Amino acid sequence: FACGSLLSLRLGKNQEEPRQIGYALVPMIARGVMLGPDQPVRLHLLDIPPAAEALNGVKMELIDAAFPLLKGVVATIDVIEACTGVNIAVMVGGYPRKEGMERKDVMSKNVSIYKSQAAALEQHAAAGCKVLVVANPANTNALILKEFAPSIPEKNITCLTRLDHNRALGQISERLNVQVSDVKNVIIWGNHSSTQYPDVSHATVKAQHGEKHVRELVADDEWLRGEFIATVQQRGAAIIKARKLSSALSAASSACDHIRDWVLGTPEATWVSMGVYSDGSYNVPAGLIYSFPVTCRDGEWSIVQGLSIDEFSRKKLDATAEELTEEKALAYSCLS
Ligand code: LMR
Repeated sequence: FACGSLLSLRLGKNQEEPRQIGYALVPMIARGVMLGPDQPVRLHLLDIPPAAEALNGVKMELIDAAFPLLKGVVATIDVIEACTGVNIAVMVGGYPRKEGMERKDVMSKNVSIYKSQAAALEQHAAAGCKVLVVANPANTNALILKEFAPSIPEKNITCLTRLDHNRALGQISERLNVQVSDVKNVIIWGNHSSTQYPDVSHATVKAQHGEKHVRELVADDEWLRGEFIATVQQRGAAIIKARKLSSALSAASSACDHIRDWVLGTPEATWVSMGVYSDGSYNVPAGLIYSFPVTCRDGEWSIVQGLSIDEFSRKKLDATAEELTEEKALAYSCLS
């Protein structure tokens, strides 16, 4: 990037939750957490008209923080102004899920939001713009965006499952009492929902000499196949229950991780999880936005190929694919 731009889109009625993510995210970006300590950034922030004054307050704070990397802030309620020239679009805005509400309940509200955002991005973003959808239902919002922005290459439209990936790393590190930075190569397969499959079949922990398999170290298959999976799958709901609000700081931090690795590359022999357009790898139906293990290099992600999938995993991969296929059908029915 000569100068990375970022668009933080926020639309919908109840805006406090996306605003929390946006408010956590912008200082991280301005400090270089997302694009590195040498990359100047311009931030484009979008909100709805009733929030214009508050958004301007965020702009004032960004100026007051005197971030050396921050080369400009556009705070606007005009979607075209927000989208114009952006290199990276982080879509945190949507109609948020409330305690006790199923993700499907928010589908129709989000379909219409993402359809219109797609048009604005397609027409006004910079060529090669990379898009990360954070707002739920993230996979299907990303799919709708892809459908309505056909000139944006499908490789450039992704959704956030790095949050789930990081949660899985966190759970393993807590269980084994090891540094989270020493755990790697967990996988989140599928949907950013409670059907996701957090898989440790290939995960390792750094040891004094080389690496050890998580499965060997935990040695409690029942926990790995039961409580561990359920905890990661239900973590979003547990945070909502505890905070009475969705996760915000962990979502923002994971969004930075997602973009940083996509743009700057994944570390050697390490993969991460990203929701990407399925090409049919691992017999996942093509045409879904599905979370896979990926490595990134030169600004492009590639699905890690050739991993063994046992019978237990196969069922889990298929179950979350099935949910995504249903979500896709539901989303399309909201379009008509
Ligand atoms: C999360 O994973 O924290 C959120 O996606 C939960 C939610 O449904 O808002």
